[in-house]
Amino acid sequence: MKLGKTALIAGAFLSAAMVMTTLSAATPQENAIEYRQAAYTMIRNHFGPMGAMVKGEVEFNAEAFAKNAQAVATLSQFPLNGFIEGSYEGDTAAKPEIAAKMEDFKAKMETFKVEAANLAKAAEGSSDLAALKPQFAKVAESCKACHDIYREKD
Ligand code: HEC
Repeated sequence: MKLGKTALIAGAFLSAAMVMTTLSAATPQENAIEYRQAAYTMIRNHFGPMGAMVKGEVEFNAEAFAKNAQAVATLSQFPLNGFIEGSYEGDTAAKPEIAAKMEDFKAKMETFKVEAANLAKAAEGSSDLAALKPQFAKVAESCKACHDIYREKD
């Protein structure tokens, strides 16, 4: 049920991207780059607040943590849609190697999805930050494992 809903939402996003292509005359590749960057920006915006709680910079709020974990798990479904053929040049930090190593790239995305889903599950109804920290770290590692290889350094 949840996955079905996500697929529908992803479909709606892609249709919207196609409509935008027609309206703005941006190429499908330019739209794909914007799409995946937008998805990652939303992921960061939900991931960051959990990180602040893990580091003790912000007081732990179990409900907020669980909501952010759920959001990251849901959003983890989206970025892959934006990694289309020919979208590794222009206004992007994605390295061109992704095209040649798509299987490995997808595997790293899958690890991220699985770890994000596990964090969401662990956080649901949990008020034990210490118990959530190791799984949060696994998600953070899954971001880094991909960025280290497939994203240009700032
Ligand atoms: C499987 C690979 C992969 C995983 C997993 C991944 N990223 Fe990324 N991320 C990328 C790539 C590639 C880009 C560059 C996208 C572009 O510029 O087209 C990127 C870009 C970003 C950006 C910049 C977006 C922008 O506006 O340009 C942020 C922020 C980000 N990632 C955060 C995260 C966080 C947080 C996680 C984990 C919770 C994560 N990413 C997991 C590959 C990944």
